[in-house]
Amino acid sequence: MNSDLTHNRRNFVRKLGGLAGLLTLTPGLPSFADDKKYLAPEVSPDEEVTDNEDYWGFIQQAYSVSPNVINFNNGGVSPQPIVVQDALDRYNRLSNEAPTYYMWRTLDEGRESVRLKLADLAGCSPEELAINRNASEALETIIFGLNLQKGDEVVLTKQDYPNVINAWKQREKRDGLVLKFINLDLPIEDNQLIVRKYKEAFTAKTKVVMVTHLINWSGQIMPAALISRAAKKHNPNMQVVIDGAHSFAHLTYKIPDLEGDYYGTSLHKWLCSPFGTGMLYIKQPLIKNIWPLLAPEDPQSPDIRKFERLGTRSFPTEMAIGHAINFHNTIGNERKQKRLHYLKNYWVEKCLNIPGFSTITSLKPEFSGAIATFALKGITPGNLATELFKRARIHTSATVWENIAGVRVTPHVYTPLKDLDRLVSTIQAIAKENNSAAKSSSLK
Ligand SMILES: Cc1ncc(COP(=O)(O)O)c(C=O)c1O
Repeated sequence: MNSDLTHNRRNFVRKLGGLAGLLTLTPGLPSFADDKKYLAPEVSPDEEVTDNEDYWGFIQQAYSVSPNVINFNNGGVSPQPIVVQDALDRYNRLSNEAPTYYMWRTLDEGRESVRLKLADLAGCSPEELAINRNASEALETIIFGLNLQKGDEVVLTKQDYPNVINAWKQREKRDGLVLKFINLDLPIEDNQLIVRKYKEAFTAKTKVVMVTHLINWSGQIMPAALISRAAKKHNPNMQVVIDGAHSFAHLTYKIPDLEGDYYGTSLHKWLCSPFGTGMLYIKQPLIKNIWPLLAPEDPQSPDIRKFERLGTRSFPTEMAIGHAINFHNTIGNERKQKRLHYLKNYWVEKCLNIPGFSTITSLKPEFSGAIATFALKGITPGNLATELFKRARIHTSATVWENIAGVRVTPHVYTPLKDLDRLVSTIQAIAKENNSAAKSSSLK
């Protein structure tokens, strides 16, 4: 055996032993400084780890996910690493000692440092970021807060997220906005074609364009910056709203790279922050123009904090975001994106030759990340998802929306390859039975 490999393995096992020791010595309550002890620090910063199962095995140990349910719906909500759960627990226990004292006088002070950490990750000024509960809240703050008139047009796609579409439809009903829907036939491996579709929908009355950076139904990555550029070229005053719910802490980019004016994301998806955490970005000069959903003293203030007047909510939850950022940074966004794409391709490529298998997800890294949606001929998505769970306790998401019908599979950084092998063999078995049942019924 290669001696470097032997050394690395020995080192890895020693670190794993250290982790076990840590867990026994301080059950559930490591100090704040212990965050990094859950990770394998011997990997050098630019080392390629995409298929280094020792490295990812260590990451798996940082989560408390059940081995009895194979969770492939991380796109819905992701689990938190143990360090994040522990931090949340500590903040919660502290808050319960004297809620208003600790939440309003101590933890609330920490929001500014969470904002700084988020700004560092997002690549923007902290003065452009508000912390809230999820992408729906962030995006609806923009949708309902924009000054728009009857007859103003909004360009969006049928494949945008339902909450977002519903919010625009409410403005259509209430304020007489006109919605112009584009229909995307996914997957699309041609950015110019996508941009052309948006451009064709723009008119002199278009005031807003809505862009979903990574489409939840199929995992399609959209050329957000190119669409923003085309919008501004058509009309420099056109407002660009970007839904980053699925791309933040999944793809490697900074929010200003997308060239949008407004951006909303959830942090409980790919960042693995506590449930019910989200973030709103507004380009500095535009903040004063957006009306908050929950009114502060000065709703036209240029201070982004005016969007944080949510009333009482969980401060422990917000404070634990910082620990999720530390965990994410220790892996590194680029490594994470490469691994997620690798996991997706790992199982999809093995399925491509299964009779009746089809996917609406690209295998190319420019157009996809962790998410893939597949179908088996002759089985409804609902029945397929039920079979996967019944046979192998594989939890997925059955998707039927507009021109999309399939089962969405989303692994995460803690997913072992063996779970993906189980997925492949279960799909093979279902397809085999389904194909022979179809053959025998056609012989009758
Ligand atoms: C593309 C997209 N946008 C927005 C949302 C809303 O996220 P949340 O439910 O966290 O508000 C989701 C949720 O899955 C989504 O996939």
